[in-house]
Amino acid sequence: MLITNCTVDHKQNPLGYTMDIPVFGWTVEEAKGTKQQQARIVVEEVDPITGKGRKAADTGWGKLNSLGEPVRIKLKPRTRYTWTVRVATNEPGEEAVSEEHFFETSKMDEPWTAKWIGCDDQIKRHPVFHQGIENKGGLVSARLYITGLGLYEARIDGKKVGDEYLTPYCNDYFDWVQYQTYDVTYELKKEGSHHLAIELGNGWYKERIGFSKRMEPFFGNSWKLLAELHLLYQDGTEQVYATDDSWEVTRSTITFSNIYDGEWRDDTLPALPAEKARLTDAPKGNPRTGNGEKESILTARYSVPVRIYESFPVKEQIKTPAGECVLDIGQNIAGIWSLKVDQPAGTTVHLQVGEILQQGNFYNENLRTAKAEYFYVSNGKPISLMPRFTFYGYRYVRIELKRPGEEAFHAPEVFNQEDFAAFSLTSDNVQRGFITTGHTLINQLIENTRWGMMDNFVDVPTDCPQRDERLGWTGDAQVFSPTALYLSDAAAFYTKFLHDMALEQEKWGGLVPNFIPYVDDDPKTAATAWGDAGTIIPWNVYLFSGDKELLKKYYPQMKAWVDYLTTFTGDDHQWRKIFHFGDWLALDTPYAGPAAVLGATDEGFIADTYYRKSALLVAKAAGALGYTEDEKIYTDLAEEIRQGLLEEYFSPNGRCCIDTQTAALLNINEGLSDRDRAVQMLEKQMKISEGKLKTGFVGTPLLCKVLTEIGRKDLAYGLLLNEEYPGWIYEIKLGATTIWERWNSVLADGSISSTGMNSLNHYAYGSIVEWIFGYCGGLKPVEDVPGFKKVTIAPVIHKALSPLELSYDSAAGSYEIRWEILDDNHLKVDITVPFDASAVVTLPLSGKEPFEIGAGTYTYTYETTESIVSRLSIDSPIRDLLADPEVKALLRQFSDRIDEIPEGMKDLSLRELVKQNGGISEVALEQLEASIRLLQEK
Ligand code: BGC
Repeated sequence: MLITNCTVDHKQNPLGYTMDIPVFGWTVEEAKGTKQQQARIVVEEVDPITGKGRKAADTGWGKLNSLGEPVRIKLKPRTRYTWTVRVATNEPGEEAVSEEHFFETSKMDEPWTAKWIGCDDQIKRHPVFHQGIENKGGLVSARLYITGLGLYEARIDGKKVGDEYLTPYCNDYFDWVQYQTYDVTYELKKEGSHHLAIELGNGWYKERIGFSKRMEPFFGNSWKLLAELHLLYQDGTEQVYATDDSWEVTRSTITFSNIYDGEWRDDTLPALPAEKARLTDAPKGNPRTGNGEKESILTARYSVPVRIYESFPVKEQIKTPAGECVLDIGQNIAGIWSLKVDQPAGTTVHLQVGEILQQGNFYNENLRTAKAEYFYVSNGKPISLMPRFTFYGYRYVRIELKRPGEEAFHAPEVFNQEDFAAFSLTSDNVQRGFITTGHTLINQLIENTRWGMMDNFVDVPTDCPQRDERLGWTGDAQVFSPTALYLSDAAAFYTKFLHDMALEQEKWGGLVPNFIPYVDDDPKTAATAWGDAGTIIPWNVYLFSGDKELLKKYYPQMKAWVDYLTTFTGDDHQWRKIFHFGDWLALDTPYAGPAAVLGATDEGFIADTYYRKSALLVAKAAGALGYTEDEKIYTDLAEEIRQGLLEEYFSPNGRCCIDTQTAALLNINEGLSDRDRAVQMLEKQMKISEGKLKTGFVGTPLLCKVLTEIGRKDLAYGLLLNEEYPGWIYEIKLGATTIWERWNSVLADGSISSTGMNSLNHYAYGSIVEWIFGYCGGLKPVEDVPGFKKVTIAPVIHKALSPLELSYDSAAGSYEIRWEILDDNHLKVDITVPFDASAVVTLPLSGKEPFEIGAGTYTYTYETTESIVSRLSIDSPIRDLLADPEVKALLRQFSDRIDEIPEGMKDLSLRELVKQNGGISEVALEQLEASIRLLQEK
């Protein structure tokens, strides 16, 4: 029996995070028993000198919650604690203890000795602050507590401290600034002199970000650094090096950096004499919100580290028709790169990135004003370069250079592609969910979605990682959150985002702005389905983690959002009347051109539907937390909103007057009115669109889910497997390695459809992966027993995906589901349920009632109640024949008029159609029948 995945506040061995009451979590593997009988957590405070532990807390044996057990400890600042958890199972005598884990506190509310320091901000060359360090011998530990604005990178004796990038990360610096803690004992271990150098870049803080100021810094104009290095010696003495005006500043050869435009470095610049650092102000609040004089709160880190996740060699070096040298790394990523340069002094090397080629040439117009480039002027010495204070969203890199005396940039004559490597950056979320199926393109879709997540999880859940935006758009974050929680352990990541959100809400009276941090003027209003991230994300984090402490923490902000809506909307339904993004980027507006943004579903209807959804989530959260009074208040509010919806948007008999796919989906999913009518409307809409999707950001995440739930898995799978425009596979067939912003981002001829708003790395439509996990794989959390302690397992099978293998390392332990169609009438389903969890299983096509199983591994091989592989033939309805991409392709070979069959005739069988209209000879029809049969036997 093993105790694994031991976490504190959803992080393994956290060092220097903001902590309140630590919450402990664990899972159990390889136990004989199936349930946790009792558990016991022991926490010890470590004496930093002797390394010995002294008991700080002991829960004693009891019914502890493995998903999140809060343990009250009077935490001391800058202190390391070790902990273990013991678990006894229901198997008599079975007991185990975990390995020892630790957490270490930050400075907490200990005052800082360090002072904020800066330098002459007129000089654009980036400052490097220096401090000599003396290790006087007998060092036992060394910690660096540090933050710097815009961004900082610390080096000890020339070596980068830690493996994080873009620190201190991105948040509303007017409100708060995070500092990080590094264990630098190893770096300073050797007795004698060391050197600490800290370079600052501009980052999100000191350069342009967002829309309001466009080309100017949003937050501040001056560099700021705050650092304390604590050295502790064997004899108990402590030495502190803290930033003050005795530190020295030199300048690096980086002359420019920002998030959107990249970095410039000129190594021919002379070294400048060292100057004294200047004392400077702490970062302050936003003058525009009347908080100009209030100091931003200095807080220990919330952000999980942004690290290099994967490196990519050059996949192909391309000489483009325009004569450019372009490197293709084969994957659209967010990240940086390394480049070896060995050029004569004075040579300028220029790199620029893009997501796609156009007519075979380098292209970056869809990045809008983001230059996303790198300039380097060589001093003649060979060097390996890496950008320090920026990141790029890219797959292609164009390299050009200009030697001294040359007029223009040109491609290098020869380029050794081993000199370049790409590195993807992402917030450090452990990968949790994996699915492989028998369908290569669906596997690719899951992979593309995973990349979409990693590329857009660079500290903030962003809309896209490449153009002059990269903002924490709440709508995108909301629709993608269940997918993210299936794919990764994103609870700690969202904790930071939800903290950002809470601070925004405090400023704006409960309103959740459209993007967070809100780098803009007063938001004035919010938008439906975007602001509802304020209830949806906290709820999803709770549902997937099972951590009630988190829900408790988020409850006030969930409530604040709904209360804001109630006040805003008033008696005359203001909320329905203002501008909303609505079913953003849907395809059903009659005037829709390639650059259209609004869908056809009435935005007021969406607004109140989401208002109700949020009220219900608050009621559910209140229920889970035992706040019965609130539960009733918000349940009643939800019902009141529903009545209002019925009055305004429904006929007295329950027919919704908004006739779109998305309206029907919302109606069914949210249970607004007569379900049968809503189902009829959805089926009608699907017929009109010939089984194709029309939905945008609001409808798409619901589409396959609702279709499956109303018993139309044929339509749901039809959408998933559809290879034509619009759809997920269409994108993949056009070379997508991530998820596009628009269904039509790239046209069938490979040309980009528009440039105003068109990213090829927007994860919102990747929300289909939630359905793949929850329905194709069949694994879903149960709301009353969250955190996957109890689940439902009900795979919805399709021959195209067989065999499907799912594994999910949930908060409660690892689930595995595998299903395979053995033949027409036989199915095999394997299930593993982790220790101390249970599953209600519905075996597909078994005719069996759902049944409950506990921890263990189970195999079910059985004869199905009906034939699994529906046999298509010339007697099948044309609609069904056309829904199968392979059969459709075959039909096209027989007649080029196959695409012209009118909607009204698609319920006829092919035989009937030919009988009525001719067009294919008897012999050809027989041949066709044989070919269809052959195709399906394959
Ligand atoms: C972003 C979206 C975002 C939207 C708001 C766009 O510019 O990229 O994904 O949600 O604006 O409508």
